[in-house]
Amino acid sequence: MIYKPFGRHEVNVSSVGMGTYYDPLWIVTSRIGLGRGWAEKLRALREGLQGGMNLIDTAEIYGSEPLVREAIKDYPRDQLFIATKVWSNHLRREALIRALEGSLRRLGLSYVDLYQVHFPNPRVPISETMGAMEEMVEKGKIRFIGISNFSLKQTEEAVHSLKKYELASIQINYSLSHREPERDLIPYCQREGIAVLAYYPLAHGKLSLMGEKLKPLTEKYGKTPSQLALNWLASKPNVFPIPRASRSEHVRENLGAVGWEMSDQDRKELEKITGDGG
Ligand SMILES: NC(=O)c1ccc[n+]([C@@H]2O[C@H](COP(=O)([O-])OP(=O)(O)OC[C@H]3O[C@@H](n4cnc5c(N)ncnc54)[C@H](OP(=O)(O)O)[C@@H]3O)[C@@H](O)[C@H]2O)c1
Repeated sequence: MIYKPFGRHEVNVSSVGMGTYYDPLWIVTSRIGLGRGWAEKLRALREGLQGGMNLIDTAEIYGSEPLVREAIKDYPRDQLFIATKVWSNHLRREALIRALEGSLRRLGLSYVDLYQVHFPNPRVPISETMGAMEEMVEKGKIRFIGISNFSLKQTEEAVHSLKKYELASIQINYSLSHREPERDLIPYCQREGIAVLAYYPLAHGKLSLMGEKLKPLTEKYGKTPSQLALNWLASKPNVFPIPRASRSEHVRENLGAVGWEMSDQDRKELEKITGDGG
């Protein structure tokens, strides 16, 4: 595994992480302790951890925090980078603090490495949310503050409303099939040293199915379409793809997405092929 600093921070985060949003049925069944495919998902997460993926992304609404707790329980805390999110109806100060306590309890942790605002809520001033986040950093319950699904304007507002700490990251839909953030958000984040967590990095698995079109590149590098798509993201500074893989064989494949390089020309070719058909 290759590790990169996170934002401007000297912490080593695996350049490919693991997402843990499964599906609506999982969310419902996990609430009553019957998460569908629990054992298989657990095996997959452990496979990733064993291979060196220390970044795991979850959220209070995913129903996967207890699964993450089980997966990480035997790992030294300082080697993990656990990210969770607060839902948009919990962005008032007291609600955020309660939501964080709930996430920590379900994760079995005393702090999370990254706490992210899942979606902006125009009814709550961002300064109140960021103030509560900073308080929680002071209390040692959060290491880094992040946001998700914010526009450039909303990101700038979040940055400016923080008084003591910097915004560490933003989580957005970003992949070969969705490059729209490259217009303004990504350049802004690169300038400001804000890490980008790329969700839907495989476009829900759609990019994984482009074997025929990508044959010249998959054969040249001896890599699969998923590995090409994740490598394209992970080799960018400060960009961390977080593919979800419920199956161990997918995690094993995703572990092989880094540690090798594509030429600039091949990266462009990959963009052209997936842009045309993606
Ligand atoms: N912040 C937000 O609002 C937001 C929104 C959406 C997602 N997210 C985060 O981003 C994560 C990833 O998003 P996503 O799961 O929707 O999309 P994704 O990672 O682009 O695609 C996941 C799909 O790809 C499959 N897959 C994974 N590795 C593969 C491989 N090597 N070969 C073939 N197929 C492979 C998975 O199958 P299996 O699961 O069967 O292995 C799953 O069906 C989520 O889990 C969540 O943590 C955040």
